[in-house]
Amino acid sequence: MVEIFELRQQHIEQVTDIIADLSDSFFYEREAVAARTYLQEVLEDGGRTKRQWIAVDGRAQVIGTLGYRSHTVARDLYELSWVVVAEQQQGQGIGTRLWRIAEQDLRSRGARMVQAWTSNRPYTWPARRFYESIGFVCESIVPDYWEDGDDLAIYVLRLLPPEDPRLEDR
Ligand SMILES: CC(C)(COP(=O)(O)OP(=O)(O)OC[C@H]1O[C@@H](n2cnc3c(N)ncnc32)[C@H](O)[C@@H]1OP(=O)(O)O)[C@@H](O)C(=O)NCCC(=O)NCCS
Repeated sequence: MVEIFELRQQHIEQVTDIIADLSDSFFYEREAVAARTYLQEVLEDGGRTKRQWIAVDGRAQVIGTLGYRSHTVARDLYELSWVVVAEQQQGQGIGTRLWRIAEQDLRSRGARMVQAWTSNRPYTWPARRFYESIGFVCESIVPDYWEDGDDLAIYVLRLLPPEDPRLEDR
């Protein structure tokens, strides 16, 4: 049975491992190091601006993670952080379950908009399908962002409809 709860100190190593395991096919190797530092920051933040959930199987193994951080400047804007399901467990609804918990929490915080940054290289196709399946829309591509030949794809989901100040400006 898969359970979902918030990241704890003892899981940081396992979460980093599932990211490192995907570094041949999806992540750059340097990302596992960045993840470890980021996850430590999440724990120190204590849920104020960042939260990270993990999915754990019946053998107490971490098999997925998904979180968010609030944007430091933009109003009620959140960015997804470390959206990963272990390779053997993908396609079984775990990513969607993690997202539903984060979404509920984001709605209760009054989040206006959520962003997910990825790449548009062919191997990210499952990730892009995943974001689209939970309602995100690709709003922008920034060529050569990650490195030359690897573009940034910015996916966006509005949780609240736009207010109308833009109409008053006209
Ligand atoms: C993207 C990812 C987190 C999705 O998690 P998941 O548990 O596999 O996703 P789910 O089983 O909840 O699937 C939800 C939807 O995602 C899409 N999807 C998931 N895996 C897919 C795959 N291998 N191929 C195509 N679409 C896929 C489907 O649209 C699916 O909906 P459907 O089952 O109704 O067709 C996971 O596949 C993953 O970790 N991939 C590698 C790392 C990654 O891409 N992370 C995102 C970083 S930006």
